Amino acid sequence: MTQLTRKEMLDFLEGRNDSELFAHAAAVKNQVFGQDVFIRAVTEFSNYCNKRCQYCGLRAPNREIDRYRMPRETILDAVEAAANNNVGTIVLQSGDDFHYTTEFIGEIIQTIRSRHDIAITLSVGDRKISEYAYWRECGADRCLVKLETTDPELYARYRIGEQFSDRLERVDALREQGYEVGSGVIIGLPGMTVETTLNDIVYLSDLDLDMIAAGPFIPHPQTPLADASIGSIPLSHRVTALLRILNPGVNIPSTSALSALNPESQGQALLRGCNVLMPSLTPEEHRSKYTIYPGKNENHATATASLAAAKDMIRSLGLTPSSSKGFSKRNQV
Ligand code: 5AD
Ligand code: SF4
Repeated sequence: MTQLTRKEMLDFLEGRNDSELFAHAAAVKNQVFGQDVFIRAVTEFSNYCNKRCQYCGLRAPNREIDRYRMPRETILDAVEAAANNNVGTIVLQSGDDFHYTTEFIGEIIQTIRSRHDIAITLSVGDRKISEYAYWRECGADRCLVKLETTDPELYARYRIGEQFSDRLERVDALREQGYEVGSGVIIGLPGMTVETTLNDIVYLSDLDLDMIAAGPFIPHPQTPLADASIGSIPLSHRVTALLRILNPGVNIPSTSALSALNPESQGQALLRGCNVLMPSLTPEEHRSKYTIYPGKNENHATATASLAAAKDMIRSLGLTPSSSKGFSKRNQV
C-alpha cells in the first residue's frame, strides 16, 4: 500500500496538487480494475424511516414527504428489469422501515437468487444482527452500513439517539457473517473540517471494507440543516482519490449526490479513481419520492432508459460498463 504522510494527505485535500493526486488515483484504479465500471442498480423499495438523521429528507419527523412501500411484485419486477439489462448487482434499499418482516425480505432474496444470476446488496438499516445472518443464508452477498462521520461527537450530533460504537460493531459483525461490507462518509456536513475528513479517510482505510463511499452533503429544505452550505465537489473528488490510493482493490462509487449537484462531476470522479455507478432503478411512480436530498432521482426516465443513460455516460468517458457482479478485490492487491 502506498504510504502517505498526514501532511501529504492534508496538502492533497487542500487542493495543492490536484493533477498529481487525480493522475495517481486513476493509475491505481486502472491497474486494478482496468476500464471497467461496475453498475449497481438501486431499488429503493420503501422511503419510510424511523430514524431522525439531521441531514436526511427521509427522517421520520419529516411529515411533508409522500411515503411509499413497494409490494413484493413491484420489487421483483424492478430486479428483473435490472437483470434483463445485464446489471451484475441489485441493491435493495430502504429507510429503517420495520414494516417488512425478516421472512418477507428473506423470501425476496431467495426468489431473486432462484431467478437471476445477480449479486444482492442489502441497504435496509439497523435490523437485528440475527436477521442479517438469516438473510445471508437466504443468499444476500453484501450490505451497506454507512458511518457518515468517524468523529463520535459529530456522529451523536447528526444521528440523533445513535452511537458510533454500535455502528462500528455492526460493521464487524456483518463482515464475520461473510458479507462484503460497504461503508462511507458524507463530505461537508457543518462542523466537518479538512482534519476531520482526513481522519475519516484514515479510519475507513483501516476497516478492511469492500466498498467505501464519500459524497458531498446536500442540504434538504425539510430538515434542521436546511440552511447549511453544500459540501464541496472538489473536496469529494480528492477524498475518493485518496481513498483509492490507500485502498487499491476496494470498490469506490462515484456518488449520486455528485450527480445531483453537477452531473459532469459524477463522470469526472470515474476518471479520478472511482469505479462504481449506482443508478436508481426504482419504478418512476416512486423514484422521485426517495428524496434523501434535493436533486436525488430527479430524472423521470424509465428504469431501462436511466440505465442506458448511465451506460452512455460511462462509454462517453472512454470506460466500459461492466455486467460483472463486481466483487471487491481488496484481498487480491
Ligand atoms: N446529502 C448527501 N448525502 C446524504 N445522505 C443522506 N442525506 C444526505 C444529504 N443530505 C447519504 C448518506 C446515507 C445515504 C442514504 O445518503 O450517506 O447513508
Ligand atoms: Fe433514515 Fe438513512 Fe435517512 Fe438516516 S440517512 S433518516 S437512517 S434513510
